[in-house]
This record gives sequence, C-alpha cells and structure tokens, in this order.
Amino acid sequence: MSKRSDFYKKLDEAAASAKIPRIIESGEGAYLTIDGRPRLNFCSSHYLGLSVNPRLAKAVKGAVDKFGIGTGYRTLAGTHILHVELEKALARFKSAEAAIVLTGGYMANCAAIQTIIGKEDIVISDELNHASIIDAIRLSQVKNKLIYEHRNVLSLEEKLKEAEELRNTPRADGEAPTVLIVTDGVFSMDGDLAPLPEIVSLAEKYDVLTMVDDAHGEGVLGKGGRGIVDHFGLHGKIDIEVGTLSKAFSVMGGFITGKKSLIDYYKQKSRQFLFSNALTIPDTAALLEAVKILGESEELVKKLWDNVKYLKEEFGKLGFDTGHSETPITPVMIPDEDKAREFSAKLFEEDVFATPIVFPMVPKGKARIRVIPSASHSKEDLDRGIAAFAKIGRELRVLLQ
Ligand SMILES: Cc1ncc(COP(=O)(O)O)c(C=O)c1O
Repeated sequence: MSKRSDFYKKLDEAAASAKIPRIIESGEGAYLTIDGRPRLNFCSSHYLGLSVNPRLAKAVKGAVDKFGIGTGYRTLAGTHILHVELEKALARFKSAEAAIVLTGGYMANCAAIQTIIGKEDIVISDELNHASIIDAIRLSQVKNKLIYEHRNVLSLEEKLKEAEELRNTPRADGEAPTVLIVTDGVFSMDGDLAPLPEIVSLAEKYDVLTMVDDAHGEGVLGKGGRGIVDHFGLHGKIDIEVGTLSKAFSVMGGFITGKKSLIDYYKQKSRQFLFSNALTIPDTAALLEAVKILGESEELVKKLWDNVKYLKEEFGKLGFDTGHSETPITPVMIPDEDKAREFSAKLFEEDVFATPIVFPMVPKGKARIRVIPSASHSKEDLDRGIAAFAKIGRELRVLLQ
C-alpha cells in the first residue's frame, strides 16, 4: 500500500501533465468567450442551441420566483410537481408508457442496468459503448459480460448463442438469468449508429431484453428529435431507452423510458433514484420548456441537419477525412496525436474552439478534431469555421492541396 506522502507525490506528478480545460466566460451559443475573446463554438453537444434560448431562461425565472431553488430526495420529501410534469412530458415526447428522471445520463445508465441485472445474469454489450454503460455493468457485478464487436451483428449473434447456453444454468433463486443487450444509439466519438433493427430482430429471436443509450440521438434523430427508436420506427420494440438531458436539451439530467411496470420498478428499487437528490427547480423548469419547444416544432432539428449537411459537404470538398459518421458528430481525422493537438491550438488562434480527441478516448492512431455544428450556427458561422480548417489543414499538410 502506498504511503500517504507517496500518494500525494503521485497526484502532484499527475497534475503536472494534466490537461487544463479552457474556461468559458459567456453563455454557450454559436460563439462563446474564452480569454476575453469570442470564439466560434465548434464542438459543443448543445445540438439545438437551447443553452442560450430565452424561453428556457424565462421559464427558469418564473419557476424560481414561484418555487425557489432546491428539492429533496424524491421518495422521502422531494418529488415536486415539476418532476412529475417533466416525466409525463418526456414519456409523451418519446411515445413511451412512462419515464423516470435522474440527475444525469451517467446516473440513468447506472440505474437502468444495476437495478435489473445481478451477478448471475448476462449482459451483451457493444465493445465501443460509452464509459457510463461500462461502469453501470461493473456496478451490477454481473459475471457473464459478453462483449461483441462494434456494430457487428454476426458477432452479436455469436454472443447470443453463448448466452443461450449460459441461460440453461438457473440462478440461486431458481429463475433463469435475465439477458440484456445494451448499445449506444449514436457512438459519441465516430457518430455512427447502432444497427438497431437488426438488434431488435435478434433480441426477438433469442427472447432477450434490449437497451439503447440515446444520449446523442435525443433532439437529433427521428421526427422532431424524438430519438433513434423513432428514427428506425421501432416504438415499443426496445425495452429500455436511456437519454441525457445535458446535450440537445441543454440543461442537465438523464432519463429512462419504457413500459410503466419497468419504470415503476426503477422508482421503487433504483439506488441512483433512492439515494441521491433530485434535479433542482431551475433545471426541471428549463427542461420542461425544452421538451415543449421540441414538441411544438421541428424547425430547430431541421436547421441542425441543414448545417450538418453543409459542413460535411464542404469538409468533403476540401479533402478532409470525416470518417463514417451518420450524425452531426463530425470527426476530422488527424491520426497523429501531436498534429491533432497542434491543429486545435492553431484553430484557437483563429478564434475557433474545437478540441482534439486523443488516446484513451479513441484508439492510438485515430486522433481527430471532433466538430459538432449546431442549430445556432448561421451559414456565415460555418463558413468561418470551414475557412479556418482549410487554412490550417494546408499549413499542417493534413490537406495536400
Ligand atoms: C453516450 C453517452 N451516454 C451517457 C453520457 C452521460 O450523460 P450525462 O453527461 O448526462 O451524465 C454521455 C455524455 O457524454 C454520452 O455521450
């Protein structure tokens, strides 16, 4: 065991090489201020620009005047009428029977898995699933975790066959183990989609449960941003849908939708729900307004997709490799990590904020700048960013012409 003095010495060493995040001094719209200068915001997950939407701000002010700020533990003394309204609004928006809201997408993933999966059950997980899914699986202490190759349906079926064998051994309580397939909907580093229709067919064939984490699909995919299940027309076919309220919804929180019996079970048993405080009044009021805005019109989602199409086409014309994204997540591949870092630093000098993504977030040799346009960008904003990419791309010889 390391001594106390060694422990802090190691922390000091780690601090010396730590990445220091840039400090944002303004709201997060198409532009944000860093070091006193406005910079083009080219890497935010506020897909619809709701972070600085005046309607959300107005809703927050009204709710705070009426209800104050804080809430409590939902089951003991904290379930507020706004929480109930938000859950109803989210369930309606997702065409689901019911919803439960937690304080983050991370918490929602942990609740979704840990509450229904125990040591003797079986989880089948895509190898590139988000860290919060990986942690949720660890938390469940499940012994049989079967990892299938990224988006590979054949590999998934192999694991399902393995699970079928394992399912023959009953748990200590005499029941057959529960089997759950879990996948990200949109993979956050590459912007590719899970093959959800094929996953559903296999789940039906092998009679197992399915779960999708739609953090980057909510507010982006499907009619008016109703998510990946709507995009593929699979309503009622996925057992557990998890979403975050921090990306397109631009506030914070996470939620799970599904059948009423499942959501009621989560409300009774989930440790993340029972032993952690609820969202505050301002968060909840802002989210209610955000869901209302999405329910009223598809305008913001359409604007987002127009911007995505334009940006990808222009990057393509310039000769950038943007991988195989099917969503607004636009990785500009610069395999060499040092070059990716240098590229991002030079963009910053041009007042464009887009951070490099390097190992361990992506494998070695797959570094990139992850650009995400939003509905708050005008065509002029996008052109500014594209021009900066072209200039630096040529300077650093990422572009050869
Ligand atoms: C795929 C995915 N799932 C879950 C999360 C966690 O969401 P939250 O930030 O609301 O905890 C994220 C956030 O980065 C994510 O990208």
